[in-house]
Amino acid sequence: MQRTFSIVKPDAVRKGHTGAVLAMIEAAGFRLVAIKRLSISKQQAAGFYAVHAQRPFFNSLTDFMSSGPIFVMVLEKENAIADLRKLMGATNPANAEEGTIRKKFAGSIEENTIHGSDAEETASFEIGYFFAGYELYTTT
Ligand code: CMP
Repeated sequence: MQRTFSIVKPDAVRKGHTGAVLAMIEAAGFRLVAIKRLSISKQQAAGFYAVHAQRPFFNSLTDFMSSGPIFVMVLEKENAIADLRKLMGATNPANAEEGTIRKKFAGSIEENTIHGSDAEETASFEIGYFFAGYELYTTT
């Protein structure tokens, strides 16, 4: 069993797509281990996306991610990291396959509805950035 980290981004929350995104995730066999609604600051967004600090889109990305509420969550499934990325579709929704979350809901390469960890090391950093250990302890 593997855990991954995901965010329903401000564009999706604003448009009322959170429930539909979560339904697609659950229908694909993921278990929602933890979820919470947050409004993060630009600085908190910058810390989360620190690996992208030198990218030209960094300033705009951190403005966007702090522009409204988000849902952060931890998902569990076998092969969760790769399977969530497949379900999300390509970063740029113009390249996303039919049936993916970004194809269905994303408006642009930046306002692309959902984030998902890209590797085990990233997942563990990202889960730890937003969740404490006691929030992730499950017995059922
Ligand atoms: P995400 O998977 O959360 O990882 C980094 C985010 O930066 C990405 O989704 C997009 O929201 C954004 N992003 C990536 N590439 C670009 C780009 N070329 N222009 C604007 N935003 C981008």
